[in-house]
Order: sequence, then C-alpha cells, then structure tokens
Amino acid sequence: MVVKINENYLLLKSSYIFAEIAQRVNKYQEENPKAEIIRMGIGDVTKPLPPAVLEEFKNAVDEMGKPETFRGYGPEQGYSFLIHKIIENDYLPWGIELSEDEVFVSDGAKCDTGNIQEIFGLDNVVAVTDPVYPVYVETNVMAGRTGPIDSEGRYERLVYLPCTAENDFVPELPTQPVDLIYLCLPNNPTGTTLNHEQMAKWVNYARENKSIILFDAAYEAYIQEDDIPHSIYEIEGAREVAIEFRSFSKNAGFTGTRCAYTVVPKELKAHDNEGNLHLVNPLWNRRQTTKFNGVSYPIQRAAEAVYTPEGQSQINEYITYYMENARIIRESLEKIGLNVYGGVNSPYIWIKTPEGMDSWDFFDLLLNKAHVVGTPGVGFGPSGEDYLRITAFNTLENTKKAMERISELSF
Ligand code: MLT
Repeated sequence: MVVKINENYLLLKSSYIFAEIAQRVNKYQEENPKAEIIRMGIGDVTKPLPPAVLEEFKNAVDEMGKPETFRGYGPEQGYSFLIHKIIENDYLPWGIELSEDEVFVSDGAKCDTGNIQEIFGLDNVVAVTDPVYPVYVETNVMAGRTGPIDSEGRYERLVYLPCTAENDFVPELPTQPVDLIYLCLPNNPTGTTLNHEQMAKWVNYARENKSIILFDAAYEAYIQEDDIPHSIYEIEGAREVAIEFRSFSKNAGFTGTRCAYTVVPKELKAHDNEGNLHLVNPLWNRRQTTKFNGVSYPIQRAAEAVYTPEGQSQINEYITYYMENARIIRESLEKIGLNVYGGVNSPYIWIKTPEGMDSWDFFDLLLNKAHVVGTPGVGFGPSGEDYLRITAFNTLENTKKAMERISELSF
C-alpha cells in the first residue's frame, strides 16, 4: 500500500505568501548581516497587549493554578462572560441584537475564514475579490473547490472580482451566479471600505441569488469615517445571508495570543442536494464541537478586558498610533509621486508600483535599496500585480525611518 495525498494540495502555489517573503528576507539578512531591515510586510502588530488586558490575563492564569478556581475544558463556543460582552459592545450600539448561541469564540479569524468552507458543498461556486486575503482562496483549493491554476494565477472554478484603481477597488457584483462570496471590509490588502449603500447592494444580491456572504471584519476597529458599516448586520436582511468574522488580533494585539469570534445568525439557511433547507448555525456548531475545544480560559478573560473602559481607551490609543503611522506612510509616498490608496480606514497602504516595475521588482527594490519589506501585491491575486502593500503596524520611529529611506530612492 502506498498512502495517497490529498492531490488538491498539489494545486497550491508552492508557498504561502508570507512564508515566502520571510524566506526571502531571511536570506537577504544572512547575506547582508549589517542591513537594518524594517519589516512592513505581514500585518502583525507591534504594540504589546494593553495593560488592562494583561492584568486580567495574569489573574486568570493565577486562577488556573488554584484547585478552587481551576478550569478544564470550557464550552467549545466560548465562555458566556465573553460572548455577552461581545454582543453588548460590538453589536448592540449599532442596533444589532444577537443571541449568545449565534456567536462562536475562536482562536483566529484566519482559522475561521479558512474552516468555514467545510460546512458547504464542494460544488458551490466561490467568488473572491482580486486582490484577496490568500486564506480564502487557498482553503478552497485544499478542499477541491477550485480546479487548477492558470498561468496568470487564477483558479479555474473561482470567480474573481477585480478591484483596481480603475474601479476604486470596489468590487462589481458578479455577472454569473455565485454561491459563496468572500468580502473583507475594511479590505485587506487595499484598505477600501464600502458605505451603507454599497454594502446593501451586496446583501440584496445575496438575497436575490440565494448566496452567502462570508464577511471578514477583522479590521473593523480601524474605521474612522462615518457612513461605513461596522458590521454587515447593520444592513437590512443581512442576517439571512451573511456570516461575520471578527478578531482581537488587530485591535487589541492578539496576533500571538489568539482570540477571535464568528457570528452565524439563526436565519441563515442553505440547501442539501434534495433542495431541503438547513440552518447553517447548527452545522458550524457541530463542526466546532467536533474539531475545536475552545480558546483557553485566560485568553478569553484577557479578551473580556478589551471591553472595560480602560481596555477600550488603551486599544483606541493603539489604533490612533497605528493610524498616525498610516498617515505618515501615505503622505510621504504621495510626496515622492507614488499613487497610494487605503490607510484611511485601515492599517494597510496599497501602493501602485512605479512605471515599468511589477510587484516583486518593487519588493526587491525596497528590500535592496531601502531595507524595507513590503508585501508584493501579486501575492494577493493577479490584479495585485502592479501594487505593493505596506502596513502601518510598526513603531513610529521605524515608520519614519522607512519613509525617509524610501524617499531617498528615485523611481
Ligand atoms: C496580513 O498581513 O495580511 C495579515 O497579517 C494576515 C493575517 O492576519 O493572517
């Protein structure tokens, strides 16, 4: 007997974009040990856990060390104390009512946006914006929903919705029927947002076409402007057609600590092969209870502290700090004549590559000449080929230094 692999894995690009960048940067650093590299590639936060969060984290760790307060397995869906705070703070102020069993606490929006496709049939047609967070595409490749990739980097059975400067990075509604639609807003990587009216178009489309929107709101905390929905459920009818993903990573520094949540409303339904309707919420619950044992108690206590007045003011301070970096990046790059997008309601700045350079050329130029690491846009999809993403997640000092170095280059 020879064990057979899941051949869908052979359809993947050779490596995950952020792993490939890390590899290239490490090689460069080995060859140039004196180069002081500033990493503005992966969107990883640089600020430590806010003090209010840390304190509750530590208290909960202490509880775990005492027989009278020790906790073993928790509820797979998350502790009520956290779910209650999530509903009260992230939804009720926007007029959205959720019940506790519609919220599933998890170890990351990456995991949830990657795992969610498991509960849907393999013959569903999947639409993604292009560029897009690669996890949505690659988990569907692994599952066998995409077919092979072509020479331009498009998977045969995926529907791509190009987002470029020409359409202000706003995806057009699909022109062919699609079942599952991934939307990330504020967008990673372009930083684009949709206003209420634009988002309502998507919700209406999904209602009319019986599609489901997988709505990744991991960057919600970065919304600064009015008229931008903080949740897709602000749009009428969205509870029937949308699953929403949120995260504590980018607002409260949990990229290493891991805590997020997913909302699956009880109105959301999908068909079986015979055309019978089923609720999606119990399927996700079934999946999670079988494959996941919940986020650890101290981490959920830490996440709960995000919602205290001190926690809120500390995370707001962090967001303001990162958004100041975003402003500096945007303005510095505009000053040297580059076309830059995003960075207003998002920590990502999406830069058009200088004339005659593709995204890896620009990546190499910045690494070699400025020792600054970005993310080549093509890593997010073929429509990202002429772009590069820079993150505002860094120290103010490094952000300024990186911009000074880039400003000295000529393109
Ligand atoms: C990114 O850089 O796009 C993010 O760090 C990805 C993630 O959050 O997993």
